[in-house]
Amino acid sequence: MALVSMNKLMNHALNNNYAVGYFEAWNMESILAVVDAAEQTNSPVIIGFGGQFIGSKKRTIKENIYHYGYLGKAIAQQSKMPIALLLNESHEIDLLINGAKAGFNAIMYENHELTLQESIEINKYLVKTAHYIDVTVEAEIGKLPDADIATNTINGGQKTDIDEAVYFVDKTGIDALAVSVGNVHLMESGKAQLDFDLIRLLRKNIKVPLVLHGGTGISDEDLKEAVALGMCKVNVGTILKRAYISSIQQYLKQNDIENMDPHKIIGRGGESDMLCSARAAIAVEVTKFIKIIGCGNKAHLI
Ligand code: 13P
Repeated sequence: MALVSMNKLMNHALNNNYAVGYFEAWNMESILAVVDAAEQTNSPVIIGFGGQFIGSKKRTIKENIYHYGYLGKAIAQQSKMPIALLLNESHEIDLLINGAKAGFNAIMYENHELTLQESIEINKYLVKTAHYIDVTVEAEIGKLPDADIATNTINGGQKTDIDEAVYFVDKTGIDALAVSVGNVHLMESGKAQLDFDLIRLLRKNIKVPLVLHGGTGISDEDLKEAVALGMCKVNVGTILKRAYISSIQQYLKQNDIENMDPHKIIGRGGESDMLCSARAAIAVEVTKFIKIIGCGNKAHLI
């Protein structure tokens, strides 16, 4: 089926009462794990990378967006599932434009420091440029709070204002709107309190697909409810990294690494390869979300 427009995937989900998942990857195993789970469940899926991960100013070794774009596109094209490729949440316009040239068929700009007007101007420009080459544009209105695991606190955040959201969508022409409805980024302990009345109102007033970020911190029941109320894309990240790290941690604890052939630990594949088990651990988590948000067994319908 190959690379499919994110717009198409979200709208199919919206019209058929389920949500499609975006599962954020960071390397080869993690992106392949998402596709493994999609193929095992016959599910459409959105794969991709975080713009702040690739474009972070704190990186000691700089990354090249073309490596990630070409890689993601090739993986999508080789799969039989309908797959979109998103460059998510970047502060950098240039990175997003280069990402679109590199093969990402969906992009999202994010910067909580901007005024509404500044955000409108940037997204208008992105929409004009991206639509010319058939790339979907997602944007956010309201500010998602971040959980801080070190201090066990939740920082920042501002719920989406309906009038502002309607105005923003109208002025920019974006394809999908990420909203702040009680969801929290990076939340590992406890669960977010979603504002279902706000979700209902947003769905009633906003004409484009709505996106729920912060999937890790939402309970299964609340996720189901949010999807039933019209959320048609759910973003998941932190829990996948946790699954990867835990799997490797367990492997290192259980094996006598010093006395093992390094090629058996990494690179050869098979049962003793710790990156294979880490990949499988990510796929398990992705599969759980696919079941909750209802996109399993939908691939053949698209
Ligand atoms: P979590 O890391 O909280 O699951 O959120 C991911 C996300 O929203 C990426 O856009």
